[in-house]
Amino acid sequence: MQTKHSFIYADSRKLETTADNSIDLVVTSPPYPMIEMWDRQFSFLTPGLENMLEESNYSAAFEAMHLELDKVWIELRRVMKQGALACINIGDATRTLNNRFRLFANHARVQSKFFELGFDLLPVILWRKQTNAPNKFMGSGMLPPGAYITLEHEYILVFRKGPKRVFATEKEKKQRRESAYFWEERNSWFSDLWDFKGTRQETTSGELRKRSAAYPFLLPFRLINMFSGFGDTVLDPFSGTGTTAMAAIAAGRNSINCEFESSFYKPVKDRLIQEASQLSSYNGERIARHLEFVEKHQKEKGKLKHLNKHYGFPVMTAQEQDLKLAFVKSIEEQKENLFTATYTSDHEVKTSDTDLLSIIKRLKV
Ligand SMILES: C[S@@+](CC[C@H](N)C(=O)[O-])C[C@H]1O[C@@H](n2cnc3c(N)ncnc32)[C@H](O)[C@@H]1O
Repeated sequence: MQTKHSFIYADSRKLETTADNSIDLVVTSPPYPMIEMWDRQFSFLTPGLENMLEESNYSAAFEAMHLELDKVWIELRRVMKQGALACINIGDATRTLNNRFRLFANHARVQSKFFELGFDLLPVILWRKQTNAPNKFMGSGMLPPGAYITLEHEYILVFRKGPKRVFATEKEKKQRRESAYFWEERNSWFSDLWDFKGTRQETTSGELRKRSAAYPFLLPFRLINMFSGFGDTVLDPFSGTGTTAMAAIAAGRNSINCEFESSFYKPVKDRLIQEASQLSSYNGERIARHLEFVEKHQKEKGKLKHLNKHYGFPVMTAQEQDLKLAFVKSIEEQKENLFTATYTSDHEVKTSDTDLLSIIKRLKV
């Protein structure tokens, strides 16, 4: 198996090189309107914004910034296939103007635009992002009623273009079955509350992550596994440090990544090459966690009824029998801005990891 990953250093308000109806899933996080770290970039995109901010005309500034993001959402409607989903990670902003503290509900403004564009709104995910900042509580301290609730979550908004995706051919149906996730993953991933606390640390350098407001790898990785299949193409129109591309590679999907700061090219390229060898471990961990689940379940509740055809271990449901995971072997730069990932075959996976093999053998029914 091989997947392709292209990087376009351009303005995603016009996704000129992306064909109509070609994208199976969008996973992205735009710059957040009214968050100060993005003011400079929005000023560059938005005529008259600097004056609006200087004059504290914050309602106009909020709307003007969203009008620029709207242009990207309009492009998404064009490039997404019928039935494709878009997952938009965004946080609300708070800001004090003329001594008045206010909330700018970015998630609501984005939702209403997608609704207006004819997308179906699906249930959203609240991603809990706890802050330990000492000054996280704002306002009048212990004196009512002037203290403010601290924002400790962001949204993952989920939209669908048109009716449900159809899997018509035998090949499409097979790929869908192979792209299944584990039953116990379904039970936690499809909750509307996510918290990545206690999960593995990020590998990207802290400075780069801060400058780009990168999201954690597990966020796009989970969404890609939930909402796309092998062979699909994932688009990120605000790709920054390339986290979505990394997750697409780890999941065995293709990706197209658009970012207008071309200074990201070098760090993204380094990241792809340097982290290639670690990407398999995410799916390795999924299998290890599944095996722990099986062991516990079999001890407490008895044998599972079904077997996975590729790995030979027990699974909870018939839908997991064809489930396969991608294990990255290498990532290569084919030409500037185009990378290909190649994957280990199932046979190599089974025999190269002796721990895994022994656990699988022990659990075989
Ligand atoms: C919140 S960051 C995305 C971070 C990314 N998810 C990651 O993990 O690194 C938003 C990115 O969008 C880029 N951006 C903003 N407006 C853009 C536009 N019109 N076209 C392309 N990229 C844009 C910014 O330069 C920034 O890197």
